[in-house]
Amino acid sequence: MANTSIFTDLPTLETERLILRPPRMEDDESVFAYASDPVVSMHTVWETHRTIDDSRSFLAMMLEFLKHGEPASWAFVERSTGRMIGTGGFGSWNQQHARAEIGYTLGRSWWNMGYTTEATRAIIAFGFSRLSLNRIEAYCFVENHASARVLLKCGMQPEGLLRERIHSKGAYRDLNVFSVLRSEWAP
Ligand SMILES: CC(C)(COP(=O)(O)OP(=O)(O)OC[C@H]1O[C@@H](n2cnc3c(N)ncnc32)[C@H](O)[C@@H]1OP(=O)(O)O)[C@@H](O)C(=O)NCCC(=O)NCCS
Repeated sequence: MANTSIFTDLPTLETERLILRPPRMEDDESVFAYASDPVVSMHTVWETHRTIDDSRSFLAMMLEFLKHGEPASWAFVERSTGRMIGTGGFGSWNQQHARAEIGYTLGRSWWNMGYTTEATRAIIAFGFSRLSLNRIEAYCFVENHASARVLLKCGMQPEGLLRERIHSKGAYRDLNVFSVLRSEWAP
C-alpha cells in the first residue's frame, strides 16, 4: 500500500524549465487567467471559470485533497519567469490496484513549447517511483489532438475509445484512453 502522507506534504518536482510545486490560494489570479479562457476549457471536463471565485474554489478543493492525503495537481511554475502557468497531477488514485489517472492544463500562451510533456514525464516518474503505481492512465476527448500527442510523447499507449462517456459543453463526447505500465516505463 502506498504512503498517503506523501500528498499531505507534496514534494516539489523539478524539470529543466519548470518547477512543479504544491498549489496555493495565491495562485487564484494565475488560474483564473487561463481557466477563464474558453479555448483552454474546450476539451476539459470542467466548465470555463466565470469569476475568480471559481478559481478559488478549484484551489480550495486541491488544498482540501492534499490535507486529507489525497492526490491533487501540482502548480506548474515557469523557471525563467516565476509565473504559474498551469496545473497537472494525479486523480482517481486506486491503491488496491496501484493505478492512478493523470491530467493537466496549461495557459494558452505556453502551448506547444513542450512544457506539458516535460511536466507529465516528471509526474509519471513520481507515480512509478514514489507511489509504487503499476498503471498510469489518461483520458482525453477524441478532438484533443494536442493532449493525445503529449501522452504518446510520454510513452503512453492508446488503448481504445470510450463512446459518448462524458457529457461536456453541451454534448456527449467520445474519450480516448491511454496508459503506461510499470513494466514499460524506462526512466
Ligand atoms: C493539452 C495541453 C495541456 C498540451 O500542452 P502543451 O504544453 O502545449 O503540450 P506540448 O507542447 O508538450 O505538446 C503538444 C504536442 O501536440 C501537438 N499539437 C498541438 N496542437 C495539435 C493539433 N491540433 N493537432 C495535432 N497535434 C497538435 C504539438 O505539435 C506538440 O507535439 P510535437 O511536440 O510532436 O510537435 C494544452 O494544449 C492545454 O492545456 N489544453 C487545454 C486543456 C486540456 O485540453 N487539458 C487536457 C485535458 S485531457
